[in-house]
Amino acid sequence: MTGHERPRHLLAVLAALSLLIAALPIAPPPAHAQQSLAQYDPDALARLVRDWLDAPHADHDSLSFTYWNKQGAVPTECAACHSQPGFLDHLGADGTPAGVVDHPAAINQPIGCASCHTDSAHALDRVTFPSGIEVAGLGASALCGTCHQGRLSGLDVARATASLPEDQVQADLGFMNIHYAAAAGVQGGGDLIAGYHYPGQSYAGTFTHVPSAGTCIACHDAHSTRVETESCLSCHRGVDDLRAIRMQHGDFDGDGSIAGGIMSEIAGLEAQLLAAIRTYALQVSGQPLAYAPGQYPYFFKDPDQDGKIGADEGGFPNRYQSWTPRLLKAAYNYQMSRKDPGAYVHNPRYVLQLLHDSLADLAGVIDLDLGRRPRP
Ligand code: HEC
Ligand code: HEC
Ligand code: HEC
Ligand code: HEC
Ligand code: HEC
Repeated sequence: MTGHERPRHLLAVLAALSLLIAALPIAPPPAHAQQSLAQYDPDALARLVRDWLDAPHADHDSLSFTYWNKQGAVPTECAACHSQPGFLDHLGADGTPAGVVDHPAAINQPIGCASCHTDSAHALDRVTFPSGIEVAGLGASALCGTCHQGRLSGLDVARATASLPEDQVQADLGFMNIHYAAAAGVQGGGDLIAGYHYPGQSYAGTFTHVPSAGTCIACHDAHSTRVETESCLSCHRGVDDLRAIRMQHGDFDGDGSIAGGIMSEIAGLEAQLLAAIRTYALQVSGQPLAYAPGQYPYFFKDPDQDGKIGADEGGFPNRYQSWTPRLLKAAYNYQMSRKDPGAYVHNPRYVLQLLHDSLADLAGVIDLDLGRRPRP
């Protein structure tokens, strides 16, 4: 952070705090009795504000809050999740109708206290997901789910590819990106259809886990967004890293080992799916492909077939354009898994099923034996 940005930071905190105080009582009902800020120990409050300041939600410099700086405003279709005034607009806390963003919103406005502590934010209890499915009774986790739901569902992919021949390149198809950190969509699994569902398969529904660790804010601190690992390890004994947790004993990636955490099965299937996607692109679409996790729009032409996207191979003009319906479905599910780094906790069974089915679908047309991989 450069020196002259600091005052802006502090001003933002003060502005957010004054909005917060105006919006008292602050704890979200019904979980909390109505309380006023004055009841909080000032040290506890200072700690909470510091937690928030260190969290990604307060990161003024992040791409999530600076991406539109050249344009000067965050457009309405992006503002609900990328600008505090946009979120207030979406909630109807600014006096406009709830559920829509009516105006482009200010740039450089991260998710401050006032985003989550207005009357309308406290009252929020339901979320409508990109599939059109609405879930009620979410409590304070409805806040998280409003932004961490992704922007597309598997139904969008099904609609875009309906009645097209599976293995014919379609000039009109482009990559469809679920967007990022769609934790709520992944957690809801088959109930919300965040992933592309293959016909004839059934998918694991909401991962309810255990009552004490079943919602966003039961696991994530709302202010730091961090997960307190000690409570997890009191049940998941014998490991010292969340990524080493495993309850399912299937060798889902067929590598002959069930030694690591369930995350290693997901990572194994991801690697095999990417390899299958590249083989399919070469053999069926007739155009080599590579994936670059940090570069929009992620799937690129790869003429030298080295699987890497060099400086001259990336960028929008070199995006992959030889999509068949079958390839698009697999790529959509692959990206969904890659872009939720918490998928192994949010809904491991669902993500494993999507990866498995995508791989199995490609295996039908390329040379790939699925033999040793059980469907989760
Ligand atoms: C439903 C909420 C939502 C909407 C609407 C939304 N985004 Fe996002 N977006 C997110 C979340 C959540 C993240 C943060 C992912 C993370 O944890 O890094 C994100 C991250 C991003 C990033 C950063 C990606 C990176 O690699 O760091 C960009 C750029 C972005 N979004 C662009 C857009 C654009 C452009 C639009 C409108 C066309 C848009 N978003 C609409 C929720 C949304
Ligand atoms: C992303 C949403 C979000 C943001 C941003 C946020 N809060 Fe909260 N806050 C919550 C939620 C959710 C709870 C309830 C937590 C729970 O029930 O476990 C909460 C609880 C609180 C409480 C009650 C704490 C307690 O222990 O009972 C205070 C005080 C508070 N927030 C102040 C703030 C302040 C000050 C800021 C800005 C620095 C802020 N919050 C930013 C979501 C948020
Ligand atoms: C108004 C939209 C919004 C709300 C509400 C919201 N988030 Fe976020 N969240 C974001 C955006 C945007 C980012 C990315 C911030 C960045 O890149 O710095 C993010 C980042 C995160 C991250 C870190 C991801 C990473 O890449 O490291 C976690 C964890 C998280 N949020 C959890 C939560 C939880 C839990 C709640 C509910 C208490 C919540 N969020 C509420 C929009 C939101
Ligand atoms: C059972 C506990 C649990 C629940 C429930 C849960 N999470 Fe997570 N989440 C985690 C863990 C653990 C990680 C860390 C993954 C890692 O870094 O290995 C994570 C990762 C994330 C990330 C990505 C952070 C990053 O590093 O990029 C986001 C965003 C997120 N969770 C948001 C949510 C939201 C929103 C909900 C509610 C819909 C939710 N989580 C529910 C435990 C949980
Ligand atoms: C009260 C005990 C308990 C607590 C606390 C708990 N878990 Fe769990 N966890 C379980 C049980 C039981 C399952 C199996 C649930 C199922 O498959 O339906 C599970 C499943 C999981 C899985 C999936 C494993 C697999 O092989 O599919 C992960 C990952 C996980 N927990 C992580 C966490 C994290 C992270 C936390 C802390 C935020 C946590 N757990 C807290 C009991 C607990």
